[in-house]
Amino acid sequence: MKLSDMALKIRPSTTLSLSAEANRRKAEGVDVINFSAGEPDFNTPENIKEAAIRAINENFTKYTPYEGIYDLRKAVAEELSNDGLEYEPEDIVISNGSKHALKNAFSAIIDPGDEVIILAPYWNSYVDIVNMVYGVPVIVQTRKENLFKVSVDQLEEAFTPKTKALIINSPNNPTGAVYSEDELRKIADFAVEKDIYVISDEIYKRLIYSRKLRHTSIASLGKEIKERTIVIDGFSKSFSMTGWRVGYSASNRDIAQAIANIQSNSTSNVNSVAQMAALEALRGDKSEVELMLKEFQHRRDFIAQRISDIPLLSSILPKGAFYLFVDVSKLLGHEVKGVMLNDSTDAARVLLDHYNVAVVPSDAFGVKNYIRISYATSMRDIVEGANRIEKFVKRNF
Ligand SMILES: Cc1ncc(COP(=O)(O)O)c(C=O)c1O
Repeated sequence: MKLSDMALKIRPSTTLSLSAEANRRKAEGVDVINFSAGEPDFNTPENIKEAAIRAINENFTKYTPYEGIYDLRKAVAEELSNDGLEYEPEDIVISNGSKHALKNAFSAIIDPGDEVIILAPYWNSYVDIVNMVYGVPVIVQTRKENLFKVSVDQLEEAFTPKTKALIINSPNNPTGAVYSEDELRKIADFAVEKDIYVISDEIYKRLIYSRKLRHTSIASLGKEIKERTIVIDGFSKSFSMTGWRVGYSASNRDIAQAIANIQSNSTSNVNSVAQMAALEALRGDKSEVELMLKEFQHRRDFIAQRISDIPLLSSILPKGAFYLFVDVSKLLGHEVKGVMLNDSTDAARVLLDHYNVAVVPSDAFGVKNYIRISYATSMRDIVEGANRIEKFVKRNF
């Protein structure tokens, strides 16, 4: 019996698989430094955990409305108003993480054969999610010289009559690039002129380290662009709540209704207890969250400096998220430990097998010649991991 064509196209999430391999080796007693994980090492803040415990003790354990509890949708709408976005609670759907919110959003707007413009380097799941809804991913390569940001000329080139949507992810995973308001305005004008949807994945919006740059949601740049944008966000990254699985979409009412209908027939509501935890994350004390942001900034500065001090490696200082995207092209074409380094996957393999450092090779993000280092891990691991990468380069090249 044959699996569906769609199922055969879907790859396992590379980042999750790599992180699982690193953790497996760790469990076997190997001292692996795991730079591959996309999740903060911090505990979920105490007040958030307490809200969940309270919810259990108060028996808040039944089905909730499938689109999420009203109070949480209201809190999300209020939170979005800080970004200049006016949404009603009815425009918000709470989903099982932002990955699920993305799947719902694409299910709501994509017909088979519709093209979706994805900007590389991209978060690896975009391509698979678009494939899952029978859309056609159209990859546009951004350039290092443009700080990995797309130009409207490039979008024009990729556009066809079948283009239905474009994904923007700012701050970006894996590059840490953050689009300015000006840059987003040009993209918004393009989307409005071409009459396409924009999916704006803003999951790292609270993790911006530049004083000069603040987060701008493309949906805040006018009525017409807001109407065609689906904003995606979640609690995983900035509240250290990856396992709780809470995310959301904000969109016009018709799309929100379609997303809610889809969700009502697939997963139904997000875990009731996790929703109460998410409500506390938005409404409660944020001091632990602010400390995390400071710590991320400190780690970013440290790892970026260490890597830039290593000969042959280079990177652009990330403005947001918690990844450093390192150019390893100067290492390629050499043999190390009996392995010919043809691409960054080979480099990552040698780093893991011989130096016990797990990083993500950039093929996972649709580009060649880079590795992604996640600095959402302890300072001890960052210091040790940087030492090992330095040893790898200095001893072999
Ligand atoms: C850009 C981006 N979007 C969405 C997600 C999904 O996050 P979650 O489903 O945990 O909310 C991730 C996680 O790595 C991500 O990096």
